[in-house]
Amino acid sequence: MLKGAVNRRRATEKDLPRDEKTLRSLLDPSRLPRHVAVIMDGNGRWAVKRGLPRSVGHRAGADSLREIVHLCAELGIGVLSAYAFSTENWRRPSEEVNFLMNLFVEYAGREVGELKRNGIRTRVIGRVDGLPPEVLDAVRMLEEETREGTRLVLNLAVNYGARWEIVDAVRAIAGEVQAGKLEPEEIDEAVIGTHLYTAGLPDPDLRIRPAAEFRVSNFLLWQLAYTEFYITPVLWPDFGRVDFLQALVSYQRRERRFGGVNR
Ligand code: IPE
Ligand code: IPE
Ligand code: MG
Repeated sequence: MLKGAVNRRRATEKDLPRDEKTLRSLLDPSRLPRHVAVIMDGNGRWAVKRGLPRSVGHRAGADSLREIVHLCAELGIGVLSAYAFSTENWRRPSEEVNFLMNLFVEYAGREVGELKRNGIRTRVIGRVDGLPPEVLDAVRMLEEETREGTRLVLNLAVNYGARWEIVDAVRAIAGEVQAGKLEPEEIDEAVIGTHLYTAGLPDPDLRIRPAAEFRVSNFLLWQLAYTEFYITPVLWPDFGRVDFLQALVSYQRRERRFGGVNR
């Protein structure tokens, strides 16, 4: 009994099949997460393990993202949020930061056509104004070109920090109060939700973190209130369709209670 309960609560599961067909047969298509959030971590370790520069890992990580984005669209998951660059990642050496910024521009240019064709509305969440001009141009282009997409919403978190997201929301709300458009008593969870970068989207049902890290690292703090966490040792550049499907199967084995009791 106790063993079963512990197994159900594991953040990751070792006994899952490793082939796509079996995993798909285990999935209940009517209970897929509406929103999946992924922290694309482990690119550096992946490269270092191979004696390669970290930049090679970041490039391989961009390929993993492409694979997972199109799988989400194929499965009918409504929203995918992918953490690409945090407000804390500016602390890295400037060569790495520059490489990541250039990689984003390159990714946007290379992927925009396929994203558009597949109906993937791509948005960048984060403090976009703090990005270099050429990155901001790529953000605008990507958002504009894909805005008609209805199959999947892809949130790319770039210069994203959840605390800054909350700061921005508080500032906007304070401005509305000051302008007499909103009474302080009217501020509730819904009002805060509509001032976040994810306004109008459901909260993530599932959050995946590769590279065996158990941290939140300032990602979607408000929105993760009742999200299920899945953690895998697989490094992001190695993370593929099978790994994503395993996370979905694990998610479907969880019992979500939202503070209530399930009868
Ligand atoms: C994630 O991989 C990519 C970014 C944070 C931009 P890392 O670069 O953090 O890889 P590790 O954690 O050092 O392995
Ligand atoms: C989180 O990974 C940010 C992104 C994946 C973009 P980090 O590698 O920056 O996180 P920490 O430093 O290990 O918490
Ligand atoms: Mg990392």
